[in-house]
Amino acid sequence: MKNLISVIILAILFAACGPERPKVEEGNGANEENAVAENANEGKGIGQVKEVTLNTPLEQDRIPRGKAIYEMKCQACHRLDDQRVVGPGWKDVTKKRKPEWIMNMITNVDVMLERDEEAQKLLELCLTRMPNQNVSLGDARDVLEFMRQNDGEK
Ligand code: HEC
Repeated sequence: MKNLISVIILAILFAACGPERPKVEEGNGANEENAVAENANEGKGIGQVKEVTLNTPLEQDRIPRGKAIYEMKCQACHRLDDQRVVGPGWKDVTKKRKPEWIMNMITNVDVMLERDEEAQKLLELCLTRMPNQNVSLGDARDVLEFMRQNDGEK
């Protein structure tokens, strides 16, 4: 009988948590904010990509794949020189940004534009939101390698 009562009390306690949900959400939001701040400070952007290993020489098999993705999904807005069209030209982007930042920008652009300071500066400059291109992490990595080649790496 005692057990049954504890179960009922527990059930009531759980039910009581219902209306407090907004508070829980607030808590999570704050935590996320902290994580975001830390991540952004390292210049790695916000998203799934935490650590990218770059190899020298370049990973040759990725380059043609990256180029094909560029031509299909990016070229309309990005040139390979330093000219801005809709978005910034890609010349030297791999020297200005960490590889993690670039890959997060490619795969998580909506969140980046909302919360990453550097991405927001670009938005202020370009006045157009880069659309989510549905690029997988692997494809983004291929594009990154193509960008490195475009910046003169061997
Ligand atoms: C419809 C136009 C458009 C397309 C298509 C597009 N972008 Fe962008 N991109 C932008 C704009 C505009 C910005 C600047 C940020 C903003 O305003 O949203 C940007 C910024 C970037 C940046 C940061 C550049 C820098 O100087 O730091 C990268 C990297 C990037 N885009 C990669 C890509 C890749 C990879 C693709 C293709 C898979 C792509 N973009 C497709 C418009 C586009």
